[in-house]
Amino acid sequence: MIIPWKNIYRFTAKLLKQPQYAIWVALKRLQAFLSYYTGKGKSFQPESITLFLTEKCNLRCKMCGQWGESGVTKNKAAGDVKAELDFETLKKFIDQISYFKPSITLFGGEPMLYPKCVELIKYIKNKKMHVLMITNAALIKGKAAELVESGLDELNVSLDGPRDLHDQIRGLPGLFETITAGLKKVQAYKKAKKLKFPLINLQCTITKYNYLQLEKMIEVAEDIGANSLTYHNLIFVNQDLIEKQKVYDHQLKCSSDNWKGFVFAPEIDSDILYDKMQLILNRKYSFSVDFYPNLSRDGLKDYYNNPSYLPDEYPKRCLSPWVCAYVFPDGGVRPCLNSTYAFGNINNEKFNAIWNSRKAVEYRQILKKNKLFATCIRCTELYRY
Ligand SMILES: C[S@@+](CC[C@H](N)C(=O)[O-])C[C@H]1O[C@@H](n2cnc3c(N)ncnc32)[C@H](O)[C@@H]1O
Ligand code: SF4
Repeated sequence: MIIPWKNIYRFTAKLLKQPQYAIWVALKRLQAFLSYYTGKGKSFQPESITLFLTEKCNLRCKMCGQWGESGVTKNKAAGDVKAELDFETLKKFIDQISYFKPSITLFGGEPMLYPKCVELIKYIKNKKMHVLMITNAALIKGKAAELVESGLDELNVSLDGPRDLHDQIRGLPGLFETITAGLKKVQAYKKAKKLKFPLINLQCTITKYNYLQLEKMIEVAEDIGANSLTYHNLIFVNQDLIEKQKVYDHQLKCSSDNWKGFVFAPEIDSDILYDKMQLILNRKYSFSVDFYPNLSRDGLKDYYNNPSYLPDEYPKRCLSPWVCAYVFPDGGVRPCLNSTYAFGNINNEKFNAIWNSRKAVEYRQILKKNKLFATCIRCTELYRY
């Protein structure tokens, strides 16, 4: 199955809104599967590339593994957070990869803090590639028209609740009003220009702060006229997983210390969460609504409570390093967001050489042999393919 059956609803929603893109995604997944089983560690060109534009962030969201209460970036020296992908290098990189047209995701930290963020989107769109940005949208109000004009395909905005709750979780009074006003500007501009894009996808991270009030996000999404609303289950790990991961890190000669930012107790009653989920999913909306990963009552109980959890309802192997690459602020091309393992560096190598480099092949072979590493069970990528 190239799309896990639990993700069929998500895929169908994509098929209806962006049919060409959805079909292309299905073909790329097929290629990744072929590579996984027959490539001996080599892979076809990736379906998507995430550009980690900057580590800097203008918020301090409580649950964030980078800048939150346990966040690892928060504790770095200021100098270590300064690195940013150089725009000229990025343009050359986009030129190199444009022939196979991967979907590009702009990520961070906060990608809108990257000084040439909008110019970069325009550059990518000029090469006819799909581009999506995941943003806290704190800076959106002044950029609404520019963003629509840039040709951005999908604007994924993090919203964790109605006004007071969102502002409390994200630590900035007035933020909710700024975001909703900015998104309404985007919608008005799209309407005036008769444009369908960017699609507005709301991402709500489920935490102990908001899980009892998740249904309130429906009204928020309706008010904004969003195209979709996805509730993301919380990412968290415990110290035991961090210790178990060290065995793999030793073999791979890398560090997964970024996972330390996610060491906290979820404090979520999975039965109450499951009932909320059903309440929300059993109604019809004018936009798509889903939970990710989409777990059963037992699966959810296990995910939140069992320290040695293994997903029963999704494939128990990670395909991500065959499907996508992450380019970090130092130019390193990594297979995973929370590991320092790099296949190569865009500052001194061509992407084609990096993607199937000796280090890339070695990583994929070790991962395939193990199916999963210890911390993979809480990584969203595990549930995507
Ligand atoms: C790390 S942020 C980076 C992009 C941008 N700064 C933003 O907040 O949208 C990406 C997404 O991860 C979510 N997130 C943060 N901490 C999380 C956690 N512990 N579990 C699951 N998602 C989390 C955020 O809410 C956001 O939607
Ligand atoms: S805005 Fe994004 S990166 Fe910044 S603290 Fe919040 S979740 Fe983390």
